[in-house]
Amino acid sequence: MSTTPKQVCLIGGGMISRIQVLPSLYQMQRLGMIGDITVCARRKSTLAPLIDDADLKASFPDHSFIPSPGPDDSDDSHPDLYKKVLDELPEQSVVYIAIPDQNHYQVICDTLDRNHHIVCVKPLVLTHEQALDVQKRACERGLFVGVEYHKRYDDRNWIARKKYRNGDFGEFKLGQARLHEKWWYRNSNFQNWCTTDQTDFFVYIGCHYVDLVAFITGLKPVSVSVHGIEDKFPNGNVGYLYTDARVVWDNGAVLNVQNGIAYPNQAIGGNDQGMKLYTKDDATGIGGFIEHVDYFRGATYCAIADGKDPGDTAHHIVNPDYFQMIERSDGPGLRPVGYGYRAVEQLVNTAARVANAGDLAARKVLIKEIDQAELHATPENSFFNELVVEAGRLSILNHAKTVNITYGDNPRVAFAE
Ligand SMILES: NC(=O)c1ccc[n+]([C@@H]2O[C@H](COP(=O)([O-])OP(=O)(O)OC[C@H]3O[C@@H](n4cnc5c(N)ncnc54)[C@H](O)[C@@H]3O)[C@@H](O)[C@H]2O)c1
Repeated sequence: MSTTPKQVCLIGGGMISRIQVLPSLYQMQRLGMIGDITVCARRKSTLAPLIDDADLKASFPDHSFIPSPGPDDSDDSHPDLYKKVLDELPEQSVVYIAIPDQNHYQVICDTLDRNHHIVCVKPLVLTHEQALDVQKRACERGLFVGVEYHKRYDDRNWIARKKYRNGDFGEFKLGQARLHEKWWYRNSNFQNWCTTDQTDFFVYIGCHYVDLVAFITGLKPVSVSVHGIEDKFPNGNVGYLYTDARVVWDNGAVLNVQNGIAYPNQAIGGNDQGMKLYTKDDATGIGGFIEHVDYFRGATYCAIADGKDPGDTAHHIVNPDYFQMIERSDGPGLRPVGYGYRAVEQLVNTAARVANAGDLAARKVLIKEIDQAELHATPENSFFNELVVEAGRLSILNHAKTVNITYGDNPRVAFAE
């Protein structure tokens, strides 16, 4: 059984790769947890900003990745290049998928077919049928698939889960969650893929809070209605840039989730997010609540000038808990801290643990344990997320019509009568 650090291939060289995934992988490489890192994008020009990123170079002076397309390749689009990269990786490597929502399914299948383990940014896929297929392929081959719902790695959510499951609050009744990204997202690559026909802001980012409410309470979503407001991106493409969702849970509780690219550039947070869940204890007749202010964690700074990126205001809120680069005490450069890093580290290490567990039977046993522990979101233990995403898409494309989710032997979504 080999315990050589696993090679990791990151597919996708966009925003989330730059700000969270690649620096986390470099840190893992620094700590000897993983071996070589390949980053694969469709175009060479996508990778140039990652290769040249001055902050990454300063933080990780001795680290680099193998780019694909490489220096000798043309800058044409190479949409199938990832398949060649996957073919060349030693079997049982770890593949991190960070590409637009609607492309996950195909790339996941191609990765599993080549016997690699997967960590995928959320949402895993866009329909329950796709999720089932992913689960089946992974199970047959004893491959780990983990979905990076990084709020699961934020300690406050573990605290809430422990207290909720201990009965400290009674039962969830009515709640609100919101996550609004900053206005400059309208100018980013989002305008090329976050269009009404493909995905929307509830699917893209609202899924975090749906997963979280299930993670904390253990409840299952049973009906979804999503109203979307169309707005134009600067390139003329139209997206549902504001969404308002109602998610009903199997105990009758209701969660309202609002999402959008609504948070102004001139506002001081990196985004606007949080949730409040009202509860009731039937035995005592007393109510309670869980409130998480997720965008303001008590730290604001006022610099002498605005930062270099759009939306980086001089007076700004800092989230010390998600992802920050701080000084090391054991060498040059910086190290990442926060739940954004912990999510990558724990998921990649789990994938490597499965890869090193031995034969197919041994890997299957370990995957079952991981599914049952419910720390990491997997296709087996978080399939309700894809049912919500599928129901949400059906609803938003049909004027917010309510879509019900049924579980049992054949989980599915259907318009409410
Ligand atoms: N808070 C979060 O959890 C969070 C935040 C941002 C993004 N995400 C998720 O991450 C994913 C990517 O988002 P992003 O913000 O990085 O988007 P982005 O548009 O900045 O980057 C997407 C990248 O995918 C690459 N890509 C697409 N098809 C490819 C292919 N066939 N082969 C190789 N590369 C390919 C593109 O070249 C691009 O570099 C989405 O699924 C999104 O939902 C999650």
